[in-house]
Amino acid sequence: MLSAIIGRWPLVLVTSLVGVAVAALALTFPTPQYTGIAEILVQKAPASGDGALRSPGARVVGSYAALLEGDDLAAEAGIDGAEVRATPRPGTDAIVIEVDGPSADEAAARTRAVVEAFTALVSEQAPEPGLTVTTVSSASAGTSPTSPRWGLGLAVGALAGLLLGALIALARSGAPAVVGTADDAKSLTDAPVLGTVAHDPEMATKPLLSQLDSHHPRRESMRILRTNLQFLDVDTPQQVITVTSSLPGEGKSTTTSSLAIALAETGRRVLLIDGDLRKPRLDTLFGVERTIGLTTALVGRVAPESAIQATRTPGLDILTSGTLPPNPSELLQTEAMLSLVGRLTERYDLILIDAPPLLAVTDGALLAALSDGALVIVRHGRTRLDELKAAADRLQAVGARVLGTVITMTPRRSTSRYGYGSGYGPEFFARETAAPRRPRRHRRR
Ligand SMILES: Nc1ncnc2c1ncn2[C@@H]1O[C@H](COP(=O)(O)OP(=O)(O)OP(=O)(O)O)[C@@H](O)[C@H]1O
Ligand SMILES: [Mg+2]
Repeated sequence: MLSAIIGRWPLVLVTSLVGVAVAALALTFPTPQYTGIAEILVQKAPASGDGALRSPGARVVGSYAALLEGDDLAAEAGIDGAEVRATPRPGTDAIVIEVDGPSADEAAARTRAVVEAFTALVSEQAPEPGLTVTTVSSASAGTSPTSPRWGLGLAVGALAGLLLGALIALARSGAPAVVGTADDAKSLTDAPVLGTVAHDPEMATKPLLSQLDSHHPRRESMRILRTNLQFLDVDTPQQVITVTSSLPGEGKSTTTSSLAIALAETGRRVLLIDGDLRKPRLDTLFGVERTIGLTTALVGRVAPESAIQATRTPGLDILTSGTLPPNPSELLQTEAMLSLVGRLTERYDLILIDAPPLLAVTDGALLAALSDGALVIVRHGRTRLDELKAAADRLQAVGARVLGTVITMTPRRSTSRYGYGSGYGPEFFARETAAPRRPRRHRRR
């Protein structure tokens, strides 16, 4: 438990500092208060009228302290609303009186008014015969404010922050581990990390690579991914690649479309197929009609070539999902699907298929099985290690080849974990991926 907290010390440090900052902010709001202080002695004259004054007893002293704190006396002293604190000094007949005020003078004046009102009350109304009030030390106030108490406030803020940090650290230590480094992805899939895409706030407004200028970091990421793909198998390059992932929302569709544009820009004829027959996205991304597409061609209503649409990127065509069918998995397993892909390989240098997530439905595995290989998208800090492993197992179970992973939405400063600095450059991939090639499964006509 302690090691989980110590292991996340930066988090605990940050929450503690935030606690101090919040406390400091809160302490600047209240007006500084000064405290006036005075001490009086409550004694009783002997019944005979002469002799030494004697103690009225702790109970009586206590009851006068309560009287001093009451609203009536405050009203009498003309300090309505101010809090009077009267504390009997243990073992004596003395009462220490404290009253706060916005300045040292005001605090002393209020305290003095309370002592005077109390003395007058005792002498004029004589609540108990023979009672005398002597001032031991007259009202005065220190020149430094007594509240807010900065030291205490900051210490409480730091402690609260520390506890919060420790709680978060403990909660996180219990949470399943997520993919956070290239090694995680590499060891679980037994395939290299072919690229990374940093989290891009512009993704919502400019999802297509063609909308970005050539120096944009997303373009640079796609150039690296494209190069690494080329290095994978220099003699017989993959022609049909399925892009999938463990779960929804990991960046499959956006990464596939970006990669397709990057590939087409090098002069290759590229076809992008929306293989997600449940949640298609490519038609919206490219702003094309979806009514005619893959499903339309599969049920034989139109020839595949007639269902394909051109995009604004020269060399890049798109086959949308078409009308959504009630039985996507069955449709993707048909001979018709196999021969459609085979037929289209004649016309294109490369076909990229955007597939649904592997752990949700079988479609992704089916598409990967009829491709030359699969690219597995992993979302940094979100995809769990066990989910990625399960996804890799599903691909292996259908005999699909995992070409590599692409880690998306990485923090912008993660080069040490994923970048060239960690040795994951093109040479690295070339070395790492010299695996034997699996024969293609789709049939050509
Ligand atoms: N690099 C990125 N930076 C910021 N946002 C991103 C990035 N990549 C993807 N996104 C956003 O994440 C969301 C999911 O992306 P996308 O649709 O590509 O995922 P998906 O894996 O295809 O999802 P699904 O499984 O639902 O098809 C989208 O809103 C997209 O804009
Ligand atoms: Mg998608």
